[in-house]
Amino acid sequence: MINIIGLGYIGLPTALMFASHGVDVVGTDYNKNLVATLNAGHTTFKEDGIDELFAQAVEAGVKFSTEYQSCGTYIISVPTPYDKASKKIDPSYVVSAVETVLDVASKEATIVIESTVSPGTIDRFVRPAIEKRGLIIGVDVNLVHAPERIIPGNMVHELTNNNRTIGADDPRVGERVRELYSSFCKGEIAITDIRTAEMTKVVENTFRDINIAFANELAKICRSDGMDVHEIIRIANKHPRVNILQPGPGVGGHCISVDPWFLVGDYPELARLIRNARETNDSMPDFVLERASEIMGANGITDPSEVGIYGLTYKEDVDDVRESPTLQMIESMARHLSGSACKVYDPWVKDDIVPNQVHSLGEFLEGLRMVIVMVGHSELRQNPSLFDGLVILDTRNICGQGDLVHKL
Ligand SMILES: NC(=O)c1ccc[n+]([C@@H]2O[C@H](COP(=O)([O-])OP(=O)(O)OC[C@H]3O[C@@H](n4cnc5c(N)ncnc54)[C@H](O)[C@@H]3O)[C@@H](O)[C@H]2O)c1
Repeated sequence: MINIIGLGYIGLPTALMFASHGVDVVGTDYNKNLVATLNAGHTTFKEDGIDELFAQAVEAGVKFSTEYQSCGTYIISVPTPYDKASKKIDPSYVVSAVETVLDVASKEATIVIESTVSPGTIDRFVRPAIEKRGLIIGVDVNLVHAPERIIPGNMVHELTNNNRTIGADDPRVGERVRELYSSFCKGEIAITDIRTAEMTKVVENTFRDINIAFANELAKICRSDGMDVHEIIRIANKHPRVNILQPGPGVGGHCISVDPWFLVGDYPELARLIRNARETNDSMPDFVLERASEIMGANGITDPSEVGIYGLTYKEDVDDVRESPTLQMIESMARHLSGSACKVYDPWVKDDIVPNQVHSLGEFLEGLRMVIVMVGHSELRQNPSLFDGLVILDTRNICGQGDLVHKL
């Protein structure tokens, strides 16, 4: 039996995947409501294919509990936020989960940490927590780091097909964990040491962040001097060795907007490009706000209640709003403007999380003269004329062209 600790965006689909591929799984989360929801037969977030996977896993016997189980293999997938002041990782969730595992684990258990951690976190925080109990790593307990790479919105496909990395002190333990993941993973599974696995995962998200920041910086440069960034990127990308990403309203989520800070926090003198990229991406919600003010001015719109914000999530077709550019922008509006008068709508977000949020497209459009498109949900991609007739600030470049359509 394996016990998966933390049943959020990563732990839940992982538990379901193992269970539906014949592995005996108990998923544990200390959030009682979450466990009760799962035990009542409902998933806890929306994601393509998750309901079908859930049904298969339930049929195969997956169990959910608030209790840690006594067994030989644990997979930990709890949050790893960063401290906003020091930029360093907050390892407390991982350490606390490992400590609770040690209370119940059988001898020679293997603890697999899936949570993203900065390089050296396992050496600095997890090993001491194990050793202070008098346990010998590699004898009494085995440690593995198997960071997760899946992207929300395409999790089920990516869990099956992505390549994976497994970091282990002992390659034989790494091999056993590779076999376990091979129950569902068709990708290549590389085995390395723990620190390399830690660094590799953080580097992957940092690479993405820097590339997004480059596109965002180009958008600002082009805007400052009347150039069309989208046309420039389109033509530049015809070069065989150039592949510039698209600019956007910022970067959110629990990965790309967080993990690069770990490197800035630990290597402040060296991680300069990485810090600049983070700051560029974090500046984008304010840039959108400036663009919105310009466009309102040019169109004689003075009443913020005639302006709507479309999209609250950090990316399209998910319900995850963590660190989303829209939330950052709304916070900024609250500080600087009478921004709370803008209506906000996201077809994926059912709970009320910001002021003036509405829950139907009809209510959103009522009395609106301008819309700021922050997220390119399929609803809009499939119907780019959804907001025809309104002044549009299209931060995702999906609403086509026209006199009323403005880009970043
Ligand atoms: N969300 C993503 O897209 C993504 C992708 C790749 C990697 N990751 C990494 O995976 C890890 C988990 O992220 P997530 O998005 O699933 O987080 P999440 O917040 O969605 O879920 C974490 C869950 O862990 C539970 N939890 C916390 N501490 C616990 C404890 N001690 N015992 C039991 N349960 C506990 C929480 O109640 C929560 O349900 C993070 O390190 C993240 O960086 C996330």
